[in-house]
This record gives sequence, structure tokens and C-alpha cells, in this order.
Amino acid sequence: MRYLTAADIKKVFSMRQAIEADREALSLYSAGRADIPLRTNIDVPEHNGQSLYMPGYVSSSQPALGIKIVSVYPDNPQKDLPSVPATMITLDATTGVVNAVLDGTYLTQLRTGAIQGLATELLSRSNSSQALLIGTGGQAMSQLLAMLTVRPLKKIYIYDLDQKRATDFAQQAAKKFSRQFAAEFLPIADPDQVVAQVDIITTVTTSHRATFDGQLVKSGTHINGIGAYTPDMCEMPTEVLQKADCIIFDTMDGVLAEAGDIIQPVEKRQLSKNNFTGELGQLINKKILGRTSQNQITVFKTVGTAAVDVVAADRIVKAAQQAKVGTILN
Ligand SMILES: NC(=O)c1ccc[n+]([C@@H]2O[C@H](COP(=O)([O-])OP(=O)(O)OC[C@H]3O[C@@H](n4cnc5c(N)ncnc54)[C@H](O)[C@@H]3O)[C@@H](O)[C@H]2O)c1
Repeated sequence: MRYLTAADIKKVFSMRQAIEADREALSLYSAGRADIPLRTNIDVPEHNGQSLYMPGYVSSSQPALGIKIVSVYPDNPQKDLPSVPATMITLDATTGVVNAVLDGTYLTQLRTGAIQGLATELLSRSNSSQALLIGTGGQAMSQLLAMLTVRPLKKIYIYDLDQKRATDFAQQAAKKFSRQFAAEFLPIADPDQVVAQVDIITTVTTSHRATFDGQLVKSGTHINGIGAYTPDMCEMPTEVLQKADCIIFDTMDGVLAEAGDIIQPVEKRQLSKNNFTGELGQLINKKILGRTSQNQITVFKTVGTAAVDVVAADRIVKAAQQAKVGTILN
């Protein structure tokens, strides 16, 4: 059995490889080849905690089987521990034997960045040169890397409610990426300053209200909604969903059950289910159309699925086996 830290995973698996793993996972998911049971949540009230279990199986010539365990323990930082510890366990689908334990926090950042990169590559205009990133928390750096990986971006505007966080993030991003990508990272005080000029907007926050003004969005823009994952959360303004020519989800069931920025306007009859084009996997499988002209507005919404966890983790484990990276536990 192999144990893989975040550093091990970074050694053997790039954002591009993660995008390809997510492409395969979502294609198989939408073709009915994934078995993804409902998440099991266990409350641990004595310790103010909750533990969430997300298993999955994706069938293909390289079958992927595993479970991600994510716990939410808000008091942990007082004990010098992460408040949301996460671990991924993979099994050899041909024998049922556990073959690896991976850092689940980094896996989540990587596969969530990659799912957005995949959507951005499939839906945004190929000559997109300016982007706006809203939210600079734990998920944001891999979201930025994913956009840089798939589009020739020159300027990325960076906004967070916490302005210092946005400024620090922009400096960190410049340090990390300026050798590899010819882009400027520009912290801004108000996202609406640039909404009308950017080609891509990615919002990845814990917000309960729209994070930008939808009326300002120009034609041709592509928008990614990564954050809102409960019915009372919201990031994408309803106006932009009403204006959009194409609205695609990672999984139809997941988004319609969890994503507040989609559920709320449907409940208020500001949008109908007919406005939703379909799943990213259906687009990959050529069952639906995505962007069909330069001036369309496209939207992608993700709440995540264990299908991408198990496939990405399986491909990471295979890459680590080949490169002989990680700690072997006998
Ligand atoms: N789609 C997926 O598969 C997936 C995967 C992982 C996480 N998420 C979700 O993505 C979101 C972000 O995750 P994270 O780990 O980066 O969170 P985080 O708590 O580390 O950071 C969130 C950031 O959002 C900022 N923010 C909140 N409201 C804002 C607003 N209105 N405008 C601008 N900034 C605002 C906060 O200041 C903070 O910096 C969470 O809701 C998380 O659950 C989604």
C-alpha cells in the first residue's frame, strides 16, 4: 500500500493530467458507467464535528474504486489541526484490496481546479486573454492554475472580500506562476470594475449572495461557479443565468439538489429546468452542444462528484507506482 502526501502528488501529476482524468471521469459518469452512492454524514456532537464519507466506483478498462473522507471540525485550529481534514483511500477494483492513501485536501484542490479547467477549455473562447478570479481561499490557487493551463491569459484580476488576502494571493501567484505563464496578477478592490471587460469569470467563495453584477457581463464571457454547494448559498447572479446561451453542470442531480445559485431562481420561477443545457460529460460525449458562437455567454456550475475523486486518485496512484514515489506501507 502506498501513502501519498501533497508533495508526492505534485511530483507525479500535473494540472493537465488532472484535467484529462476529470474528462474521463465525467464522460464515464454521463454515460452511466459510475456508481456514486449518496454521501454518508455522521455527526460527532460531543466533539463539535461531522464526518462525511464519499465512496464511488467508475467502470472502464482502468476501473477506479475508492472513498474520500472529509471531516468538518471547526475547533481543530485551536489544536493546531486543519478544520477540514480530508483523506482519500483507493482500492484495486479487480481485487478489492486497498492500494493507497492520499492527501485528500490536495486531491480536492487539484480535481476541482481541473474540472473548471476542463469546462473553461470546452466552453470559453479560445482567444480569452483576461480573467477575473473571485475568492482567494483554499481552492483558489488551483483554480487559477487551471485557467492559466487552458487559456493564453495575459491579465488575471483577483478579488476577495478580504482585500489583504487578495493582495497576498496575487503576490504569491506571481511568484509561483510568472516563470511558466506570461500573465499579470492584479488585485482589485471591486470585481464590478472589470466584469464588463474580462473573458472568463471564476467565482470560488463561501458567499450567500451573488459575487458580481450580472448585468455588466458582456457577450462572449464564460463563467464558472465553483463555490455554492448548499441551497442557501449563492455566487452567480440570476441575471447572468437568464442571459446565458448555454448552462452546463458537472452532474445534473448534484447541482439541482445542492447549488443555491441554481435552485433559488428555479424556485422563484426566474429560470426553468429547460434553461439547463446538460452535463459536461454529455458535452464531452458529443450528446449536447456547448458554445456555438463567439458572442454567446456560457456558464458552468460544479458541486463536485466522487467520480472525479476516484478516477483522479487512481491515475495519480498509477503515476506514483511508475515513478516509485510515496511511502510504501507493508
Ligand atoms: N465544486 C466543488 O467540487 C468544490 C470543491 C471544494 C470546495 N468547494 C467550495 O468552494 C468554496 C471555496 O472553498 P475554499 O476552500 O477556497 O474556501 P475558503 O473558506 O478557504 O475561502 C473562501 C474565500 O471566499 C471569500 N468570500 C466569501 N464571500 C465572498 C464574496 N461575496 N466575494 C468575494 N469573496 C468572498 C472569503 O473571504 C474567503 O477568502 C466553498 O464553498 C467550498 O465548499 C467546491
